[in-house]
Amino acid sequence: MRKPFVMGNWKLNGSIEMAKNLIDELREKLSTDFDCNIAVAPPTVYLDFAKHRLGGSNILLGAQDVDTHLSGAYTGDTSAAMLKDIGVTHVIIGHSERRTYHKESDELIAQKFAVLKETGLIPVLCIGESEAENEAGQTEAVCARQIDAVINALGVEAFNDAVIAYEPIWAIGTGKSATPAQAQAVHKFIRDHIAKQSSDVAKQVIIQYGGSVNDKNAAELFAQPDIDGALVGGASLKADSFAAIVKAAEQAKK
Ligand code: 13P
Repeated sequence: MRKPFVMGNWKLNGSIEMAKNLIDELREKLSTDFDCNIAVAPPTVYLDFAKHRLGGSNILLGAQDVDTHLSGAYTGDTSAAMLKDIGVTHVIIGHSERRTYHKESDELIAQKFAVLKETGLIPVLCIGESEAENEAGQTEAVCARQIDAVINALGVEAFNDAVIAYEPIWAIGTGKSATPAQAQAVHKFIRDHIAKQSSDVAKQVIIQYGGSVNDKNAAELFAQPDIDGALVGGASLKADSFAAIVKAAEQAKK
C-alpha cells in the first residue's frame, strides 16, 4: 500500500511573518498522527526558519529546487548537501515554472535527480504537458519523454523512494483542475510506463497530482486508484485549505 503524500509548494510567496503564522496553524490543525506524509516547501531563504518552526512536528520540509553541483564556484546556487544539512527531506525538481522561466532541460533535471539520490534526498519530479500539447494529443508522449530522461540516465531503480508529480501546465494556477478521470488516465499511463521496466518500482512510486487542487476537488481526485496525493500551490498558502486537502488524502486512502 502506498502512503499518500501531500506537499505544499509555496513558490515565490511568503515572509517570516507568513511562514510563522502558516506553520503554527498547520501544526495545530495537523497535530494528530496522520496516515499521510505531509511536507511544505517554502522559498529557500525561509527553509532554515521553517525547519525550526516545524521542529518536532510530523510535517516534513521540502525545497523547491536544487543545483546539480554539491559545492564550488556556482554563485547564487544551493546544493543538495546544504539542503540536507538544514533538514530538508524532499526537493521539487523540474517544475514547469523552472522548465519555462529558467529553460531547464530534461537532461539537466535528470542531473538534479541524480544529485538528490546521491545525497539521500527524495526527488519530487514534476512532469506534465502544456495546453497546446494536450490539445495535440501529446500528453502521454511528453510525460514518457520527461520520465525517460531520468530512466536513461540513472535506470528505473532511481524511482524507488522517489515521487512523481503530474502537473498539467494548463491546470496550474488557473482554477481549472484536470478532472479526476483525466488525471487518473495519465497517472495510470505513468505507472504502466514505469512497469514496462520494473513492476516493483511502479507499484511503490508515489504519483501526486498537481494543478488547481483545493479543498473542494481533492477528495474526488484522491478517490482515483493511481492518484497518491497532491502537490499543492495556491491552496497550500492557507492553513484551512491545506489541512483539508491532507485530511481528504488520508480519508480516501483508508
Ligand atoms: P496551483 O495549486 O496553484 O495550481 O499550483 C500547482 C503547482 O504548480 C504546484 O507545484
